[in-house]
Amino acid sequence: MKRIPIFAAILATTLLSTTAMGDVPSPIARRQAGMKTIAEQMKILGAMTRIGGSFDDFFAQSAFEIMQDAARSAQAGFAENVQTGEATRAKPSIWAEGSDFNARMVRFLADIDAAVAGEPTDQASFIPLFAVVSENCKSCHEHYRAPKT
Ligand code: HEC
Repeated sequence: MKRIPIFAAILATTLLSTTAMGDVPSPIARRQAGMKTIAEQMKILGAMTRIGGSFDDFFAQSAFEIMQDAARSAQAGFAENVQTGEATRAKPSIWAEGSDFNARMVRFLADIDAAVAGEPTDQASFIPLFAVVSENCKSCHEHYRAPKT
């Protein structure tokens, strides 16, 4: 039970950071904020995969649900071809004809939806759902995220 206040604090700051963004975030700010929130939830979830680590079904479910919203928000931020105005690492190929980026985003959302619907109750049911979601990150970044400058 000792872990709960820590998870709760992380959840609270995550909610604050996604709502306190100003009225109309730019597409770049929107997709980056979405990705940042996704990464924060992955950290919370990753901690629950550790052998001997404690699994909490309520916090796992909450983290997947926050990711679900954040991923949809990020998807909306990628819908428009905006590459200037703010620093961005999104590669122009995202918006090129024949790009498979949208399909990757749709699959990512479907995998998160499956994790939410799966409602894992213990580490054994949680880890495969987490693994499927986490497979999306690196392969998309390799193709569509420019290296840090
Ligand atoms: C469909 C493609 C795609 C998937 C899937 C994806 N990302 Fe991203 N991600 C991107 C792109 C493109 C950027 C660069 C956005 C920009 O700078 O405008 C990005 C940026 C980021 C950033 C930097 C955000 C910032 O503050 O600038 C983080 C962190 C991140 N992704 C984490 C993740 C994690 C964790 C996952 C998996 C759970 C994931 N991403 C899945 C495409 C993807």
